Amino acid sequence: MMIRYKTILVTGGAGFIGSNLCEALLAKDNKVICLDNFSIGKRENIDGFLNHPDFSLIEGDIRNLADCRNAVKGVDFVLHQAALGSVPRSIADPIATNSVNVTGFLNMLVAAKDAGAKRFVYACSSSTYGDSTVMPKREDVIGKPLSPYAVTKYVNELYADVFHKTYGFNTIGLRYFNVFGKRQDPNGPYAAVIPKFITQLMKYEAPVINGDGEHSRDFTYVANVVQANLLALTCEQESLNTIYNIAYGGRITLNELVRHLKNQLADYDAAIANIGVIHGSNRLGDIPHSFASIEKAKRNLHYEPAYTVEAGLKQTVEWYWQQQSKLVEAGKGVL
Ligand SMILES: NC(=O)c1ccc[n+]([C@@H]2O[C@H](COP(=O)([O-])OP(=O)(O)OC[C@H]3O[C@@H](n4cnc5c(N)ncnc54)[C@H](O)[C@@H]3O)[C@@H](O)[C@H]2O)c1
Repeated sequence: MMIRYKTILVTGGAGFIGSNLCEALLAKDNKVICLDNFSIGKRENIDGFLNHPDFSLIEGDIRNLADCRNAVKGVDFVLHQAALGSVPRSIADPIATNSVNVTGFLNMLVAAKDAGAKRFVYACSSSTYGDSTVMPKREDVIGKPLSPYAVTKYVNELYADVFHKTYGFNTIGLRYFNVFGKRQDPNGPYAAVIPKFITQLMKYEAPVINGDGEHSRDFTYVANVVQANLLALTCEQESLNTIYNIAYGGRITLNELVRHLKNQLADYDAAIANIGVIHGSNRLGDIPHSFASIEKAKRNLHYEPAYTVEAGLKQTVEWYWQQQSKLVEAGKGVL
């Protein structure tokens, strides 16, 4: 069933995943409200649809309950993406991460419930598997969190569960696994590896891999994540009020990732194939391996990831290459 003609609030809609969600919802004739405080998100991420008649932007902060109540007025559904991401950021400043990811999350839950939203779909995280060594990761077997960020994302799941039990409020938590794709920020100390490595390679810089590069990740193309969110809005009632892994359902090592990126970028600039790699030390709070079972999402949400990692990387590399070319043509430097 396709989601159409609904009013949907996307929190964090000016961020990486949120802006991809806004774009997909608008393409299906929905009205989209984006709530973002632009602490991390960027206006350029929503430039493409800022003037769309069905899009409205509320500049506000989820730590402020009044902003949340204002944003949920009249909405059918909420796709809650706003958060402070990044394990290292949370280790550097656990109080900031907690206030956005826990207090902000609770504000959004309360506001959405009080406004009568039909479903509250929220971004949770593979970091919740923590120190569990079980593979593939199944939703019901988690370990102890390895970072403040992981704690906050697990608390989200606990609150959502309690809001169903105590208020009958409908929620779905989507545990994302290392999402990548267009509009992911390549810069700053907390940038994710894929956009960071792509932009470094485009500048002929050697990417730095933390550790020996044999850590593995279930890298997930953003279009698969968008699909899962849309399915969560239309799935049967009995599929609600639980958690789903949203991933590709495979894994590659960091060394393999760099090889893929170099090969794909070499199609644009052959010299990139010869760039080396630097190995740094392992990063605190990092899970060594992540690999999801996506059976539950397949069964209950009819989720079927349309993009393999390679296919997603191809789209992503092409997008960053085009962005870079536009900047260079305009004389505005590099990404
Ligand atoms: N990217 C991934 O690999 C990944 C993996 C697991 C979970 N997640 C979760 O998915 C969600 C989206 O992640 P993303 O990668 O798009 O991150 P992002 O940083 O690009 O987007 C988050 C957005 O939230 C906004 N925001 C932050 N604090 C806010 C506040 N107080 N009030 C209002 N808006 C605020 C930011 O400005 C930003 O636009 C987050 O909840 C994140 O924890 C992401």
